[in-house]
Amino acid sequence: MAFLLKKINLNPKKMKNQTKVVEYNLKASAFNWAIAAGKTIEAWGFNRQVPGPVLKANVGDTMIIRVTNNLVEPTSVHWHGVCLPASMDGTDGAQKPIAPGEIFEYRFVVRQAGTFWYHSHTNETVQMEKGMYGALVVEDETDPVTDGEKIFMIDDMKLDADNKFTTPGWSVPRVIERHDGREGDTLLLNGKENSIIPIHAGHTERWRLINSASARYFMLHLGGKAFKIIGTDGGLLEHPRLVTEVLITPGERVDIAAGPFEEGETFAIESLVYNRSTFLKAKRQTFATVRVGAPKDSVAYIPDTLRTIEPLAPHDAAITRRIKLSVVPSFKEGLDFKVNEKVHVNDKPVKVGELQIWEIDNVSLMDHPFHLHGFFFQVIEENGKKPEYKAWKDTYNIKPRTKVKIAWMPDNRPGTWMYHCHIIEHHAAGMMAYFDVIDESTPYSEKVAQHNHHHIL
Ligand code: C2O
Ligand code: CU
Repeated sequence: MAFLLKKINLNPKKMKNQTKVVEYNLKASAFNWAIAAGKTIEAWGFNRQVPGPVLKANVGDTMIIRVTNNLVEPTSVHWHGVCLPASMDGTDGAQKPIAPGEIFEYRFVVRQAGTFWYHSHTNETVQMEKGMYGALVVEDETDPVTDGEKIFMIDDMKLDADNKFTTPGWSVPRVIERHDGREGDTLLLNGKENSIIPIHAGHTERWRLINSASARYFMLHLGGKAFKIIGTDGGLLEHPRLVTEVLITPGERVDIAAGPFEEGETFAIESLVYNRSTFLKAKRQTFATVRVGAPKDSVAYIPDTLRTIEPLAPHDAAITRRIKLSVVPSFKEGLDFKVNEKVHVNDKPVKVGELQIWEIDNVSLMDHPFHLHGFFFQVIEENGKKPEYKAWKDTYNIKPRTKVKIAWMPDNRPGTWMYHCHIIEHHAAGMMAYFDVIDESTPYSEKVAQHNHHHIL
C-alpha cells in the first residue's frame, strides 16, 4: 500500500478493558490527488491521501504518532479535541515546528471517546487548504450499536481553471478572502467530488461528520429526511435529537444516526444556505449522493439515554474572564480580527483546578466558531438564555452580537494552550490567544522537563 500504516497491539489477546499502545506513521508531503475522474490537484497531506488515514484507538489507549515532514516548509500537527498534555498540542506555543526532513513523535493517552481530527497547525491557511487533515476516532464499549459507520470529512478548495490553488493578489479578492475566509467551489467529501455513498435499506449507521474546511459553514441536510444527532465534539449527547438539518461550523463535529432508508432511494448530502454575513453569498450546495441498496437485517439500537453529562456550573455562575471578538478596519491589512482589542494575544494564565466561566462576546457583525484547545467546555448561557440540552464542546459558533458563557475546568495539564476562531483566515488575521494553565505546586525544574520535546532526527 502507498500509505505506511503500522498498528501494534501490545496485548495480543485483545481482552476487553485492556488498554494498548497504538502506533501510526504519518508522512507529510506534496503529491498528486485525483478529486474526480480526470481532475487532479497538487495536494499536501498525510500518507499521500486526502484526508490522511483514519487514526483509531479505544478509550485509555496510548497513541504514538510519528510525523515525518517531507514538505518544503515546517509543519506541526494539532489533535483537535483530544485532551492531551500541553507539550503534545502541536501549536507554536507547545513545540518548535517540525523542519523539513525532521520527525516528531507525538504521544498521548486518549481518555474520552468521540470524533476528533488532526490537522496542520503551521501556515494553516495554506497547509489545511491543500489537504493536511484527517480523522481520529476514539471508541468505547458504551458506544451505541449501529449497522456500520462512516466518517465524512467536509472540505472545499478554491482552484483556478487549471485546478491549481489560487493565491489572491493584493487586491479586492484578498480582502474578501480575509473577511469571509477562504471558500471555493470544489466541494469535497473525504477528498472527492460528487461521491456516491452506499447504504443498505433497513440499516442505521453512525455517520461522523467533521468540518475540516477553512471557512465554510455546513448546514447538513439529507433530502429532508429526519436523522438523530447522537454526539458532538466531546462525544455522545445525553439524548438523541431528531432533526432534518444541523449546522456544522469549521472545526466542529456532529455524529448522527442515519437511516433506516428504503431500497432505491437516492438523496443528496447537501449544505443548506447559512448566512454568516459574508461578502460572497452562501449557496445551497450538494457534496455527495446517497444510494440506498438492497435491504439487510438491522442490529442497530439507539437508546433514548446515551449517557449523563454532569453540569459544570449553573447558568448564572460568576464570570471569571471576558473575551471580546471584534472585526475592525486596518490601514495595513484592510481588516483586523481582534481578541480584546488586540491581534495575536497573550491572555492571562488560569490555575489548575479553578473553574473557568468565560463570556465570549462577539461584537462583530459576522459569526466566529470559537475553539478552545485541549479542554472541553459546556455552554451554560447564550444571550442570557440557558441552552436546551447539555453537550461537551471544543468549538462553538458565536453568532453576531451574541454573548456566550462557557464553563470549563483546567485539570492537571499545565503548559501553554490557546483559543481562536476556527475560520482559519480569521485566526491568521489575529483572532487568537495563547494562555498558560499553571500549577503552582509544580517546581520550575519539573516544568522544564515536562516541556521537553520528543524530537528525533
Ligand atoms: Cu482545529 Cu488551533 O485548531
Ligand atoms: Cu472568525
